[in-house]
Amino acid sequence: MKVTICIGSSCHIKGSKAVVESLQQLIKDNGLENKVELSGTLCLGHCKEGVSVMVDDVFHSVSPENAALFFEKEIRAKC
Ligand code: FES
Repeated sequence: MKVTICIGSSCHIKGSKAVVESLQQLIKDNGLENKVELSGTLCLGHCKEGVSVMVDDVFHSVSPENAALFFEKEIRAKC
């Protein structure tokens, strides 16, 4: 599974760094390092929403506050 987080300026302001850190930690805690490939990308063109995250080819809007819930629903449940 490929998880790509936008680190463009608009998403950076909304907390993309915190989202990256949460997801990195959750992936590690759940032993999913070999199943999930986490990477960063520049602007995905959804600047008006939350932090933009692609899971494979599906777009999601995430915030630092709901990163754990997002991880459970969209990453862990599908691994
Ligand atoms: S900066 Fe993230 S979608 Fe534009």
